[in-house]
Amino acid sequence: MKVAVMGTGYVGLVTGACLADAGNHVICVDVDERKVQMLREGHIPIYEEGLEPIVQRNVQANRLEFTTESAEAIQNSDIIFIAVGTPSDHDGSADLKYVLQVAATIADNLNSEKIVICKSTVPVGTCDLVRETIAKRTDTPFHVISNPEFLKEGSAVQDFQSPDRVIIGSSDSNAAETVGELYKPFMRRRDRIVYMDVRSAEMTKYASNAMLATKISFMNEIANLCDRVGADVEKVRAGMSLDERIGPHFIFPGVGYGGSCFPKDVRALSRLGAENDFLTALLNSVEDVNNRQKLRLVHDLKEHLGSLKGKTIAVWGLSFKPKTDDVREAPALVGIERLVSEGATVRATDPVALENAQEELAHLGDKVSFYKDEYETIKGADALLIFTEWNQFRSPDFKKMKEIMAAPVIFDGRNLYSTAKMREYGFHYDSIGRPTV
Ligand SMILES: NC(=O)c1ccc[n+]([C@@H]2O[C@H](COP(=O)([O-])OP(=O)(O)OC[C@H]3O[C@@H](n4cnc5c(N)ncnc54)[C@H](O)[C@@H]3O)[C@@H](O)[C@H]2O)c1
Repeated sequence: MKVAVMGTGYVGLVTGACLADAGNHVICVDVDERKVQMLREGHIPIYEEGLEPIVQRNVQANRLEFTTESAEAIQNSDIIFIAVGTPSDHDGSADLKYVLQVAATIADNLNSEKIVICKSTVPVGTCDLVRETIAKRTDTPFHVISNPEFLKEGSAVQDFQSPDRVIIGSSDSNAAETVGELYKPFMRRRDRIVYMDVRSAEMTKYASNAMLATKISFMNEIANLCDRVGADVEKVRAGMSLDERIGPHFIFPGVGYGGSCFPKDVRALSRLGAENDFLTALLNSVEDVNNRQKLRLVHDLKEHLGSLKGKTIAVWGLSFKPKTDDVREAPALVGIERLVSEGATVRATDPVALENAQEELAHLGDKVSFYKDEYETIKGADALLIFTEWNQFRSPDFKKMKEIMAAPVIFDGRNLYSTAKMREYGFHYDSIGRPTV
């Protein structure tokens, strides 16, 4: 099939590359000229395991193209994905300006009957808005389908090629079937396509993300309570996980959720409630708990040190989770902002997110310095805070760490080390929801 993907970010690029790899002809469009130029030269603008060879292979086979020219891409395709960002607006609602801009561009270049697929995460009713926007500008027939994306950064290619499920929301069964065909190559082991109406499809995406965010805030609340009553949340987690109704996934305590999806999607769902005269009490609490949890390490550190003024604090991990360079709403960035506002200077490292973090934290000037090497980062530090559970942080050389830090103090937001061992090594070691021995 001939496919255009509008927006070549984390979702658009993976979608375009994987669909091309299944034999379709795909044109990926982006307004960011630098990004398009990089991709044309075979470089991937994001860090995502396994993506580069797929892009290179399909560019070479002439199945995958990158352009800034929307008109040509739309005119030459039968199926057009909208995969642009839907960031939080000032009131927490999803900002639909990019989605509606693309809808207008599609309308203005609609030269035959086409299927428009909304892959961006959008509030219930947005596909109707996209339909109205296009219909106002053209008489050419078209279909709008909701097909939210569930891939996870860090395993995006694998998730797209072996999805847990593909949701297709449509009021037209033929159009829905055509989109189903597009996904057939990824359904060889088991058909996981779920067809439904458009509004339910839009809601499925938000409900899924909100459920996952709720699990995280729930476990963080339990962990914080464990701290106060002398229970060990890791033992509690192990005990809970064996209940098949609960399961082992997504019940790890930590420093809160971040990234480009959970925070904005929980906010947008709350906002959707408010707009419809409905109080989303649970979701509001999920967000409150998360906002507090993001500052937990800094709060605990301050309690330990008395004051952060003049202190040098090292930070390991800047991306919102391992295996991605995405730092949007990352707990580490929130923590660093607070450390600096409390008078500390920060030395930070991350295996792949340094550049993005540097850009985001540029306003803090020389209060934050960045290092490639994790040991260089902790040189002379009064304490180390761990925000992201990158594998390389799991078994560090503790002896060396103790020698080069100004004080052997670690606040671990991901429960990476044994509390007993850390005591043996002579560290002051604090983690989330586990008694300090
Ligand atoms: N990142 C994820 O893990 C993930 C997972 C599932 C769903 N989503 C959803 O997918 C959507 C896209 O997310 P993302 O992380 O890929 O965003 P992103 O910011 O990485 O990419 C969006 C891209 O769209 C481009 N763009 C903006 N306006 C454009 C236009 N008029 N024409 C063409 N391109 C345009 C931007 O330049 C950018 O490159 C969001 O709604 C998000 O919530 C994201």
